[in-house]
Amino acid sequence: MSLLGIILLQVSWLKNNVILREDQVRQKIDNVSNILRDELTQYKMQFLPPANDALGIIPPLRMANELSKRNTIHARLNQTELNDRIQKALNRVGLSDLKYEFALLAKTPGPFDQVEKQSFNFEKASQDTVSNYRPPMAAIIANNGSSFESPPDEFLYIIALDYKKIVMKSLTGSIMLAILFTLVIIAAFFVTVYTMLRQKKLGEIKNDFINNMTHEFKTPIATISLAVDALKNEKVLSDKTKMSYFSGIIKEENQRMNKQVEAILKASQFEKQEVELDKEPLHVHEVIQLIADKFLLQLQEKSGKAELNLHASNDLIKADDVHFTNLVNNLVDNAVKYSKDNVPILLKISSQNAPGKLVLRFEDNGIGMSKETQKRVFEKFYRAHTGNLHNVKGFGLGLNYVKSVTQSHSGTIKVESTLGKGSTFILEFPLDMSGEE
Ligand SMILES: Nc1ncnc2c1ncn2[C@@H]1O[C@H](COP(=O)(O)OP(=O)(O)OP(=O)(O)O)[C@@H](O)[C@H]1O
Ligand SMILES: [Mg+2]
Repeated sequence: MSLLGIILLQVSWLKNNVILREDQVRQKIDNVSNILRDELTQYKMQFLPPANDALGIIPPLRMANELSKRNTIHARLNQTELNDRIQKALNRVGLSDLKYEFALLAKTPGPFDQVEKQSFNFEKASQDTVSNYRPPMAAIIANNGSSFESPPDEFLYIIALDYKKIVMKSLTGSIMLAILFTLVIIAAFFVTVYTMLRQKKLGEIKNDFINNMTHEFKTPIATISLAVDALKNEKVLSDKTKMSYFSGIIKEENQRMNKQVEAILKASQFEKQEVELDKEPLHVHEVIQLIADKFLLQLQEKSGKAELNLHASNDLIKADDVHFTNLVNNLVDNAVKYSKDNVPILLKISSQNAPGKLVLRFEDNGIGMSKETQKRVFEKFYRAHTGNLHNVKGFGLGLNYVKSVTQSHSGTIKVESTLGKGSTFILEFPLDMSGEE
């Protein structure tokens, strides 16, 4: 709203400026007309024809007539001279660029004045009254020899051509400035709106994260508290197996919390790029095999299975053992977590060689993701908000971490997915050539 106001203000200010300038220019043109009138009148009066011997003979009335005929501006200035005078007058008021047409007319007793001189396009120019301006005519006082003021008998018309162009020209600077300011204001406006939206999104994400985290921690804390209560019980205190059972629970829950805290810490460390990677030649197939074995139990529980198609002939990359294992772990963990309830999990992990590269595919038959989710899965704290996902726990850090690790190993990661069908994560890493014999 205020942006619109500012723009409107600018426009109206410019418009006023144009009107003002136009007035100024018109006034100047009027001035020119006045200057010319004064000049030419003076010029006409100055001139006295040389004394004529026949003066006495010619009847006074005729003489006056003769004199006035010879003493017209028309008779005394040719076209170019008149033009020069007009140009000079224009220069004097600072309108030297102005184009113009002019006409010199003589007064006659009849309804039409007689045209004495006329510039080439005068007729045409006089028809366009919109872009051209015609100041009041300059009347040139007749000098017919009499001492008293006589009525004017010659008129000079000037038509200023396209005078608005001159106005515009003198205003281009301010117009440009106005446009520039407006652009800056618009840009600032959009940056502000963009930042605001981003902030809002970040706020939502943070909120989600905090909700998630409290939820995640509440369960182990409650469990530990219950276990401690049970330990205080006399009956349990005397029973060794029960003692170790409850302390086992406490230990387990404690480890779970510890893992969660570590995951958060890890993510923020990667963010700040504080992590030092210890890159060594690593056989990727071994890591994948290890993780697959680890998940075997979980998979069997859901009557699912993992299919390994590790066909790459070269699986050696330079990688940090710990972080790379975490990476694979996260991907497999997601595939198990985001599986469909009633369908046995089928996780396919395959490897392939491309020139200079190792390509890994993690394909699942889980719930899949929408296009929007696919775009955002690698964002920190992002979790899809759909349906039964709420009972699956997580912080939305896993894939963000996976991406960070991939990038710090000069790799790339992308996701392909169909909602309801499954997802495939495709990773590419440069092969380690230095270790090859
Ligand atoms: N294999 C998958 N199939 C379907 N959706 C997935 C899959 N992997 C990830 N997602 C979606 O992407 C979101 C982000 O995943 P990510 O691993 O980053 O976080 P998380 O699993 O929710 O939590 P965390 O891994 O930090 O415990 C998930 O919440 C889920 O909506
Ligand atoms: Mg995850």
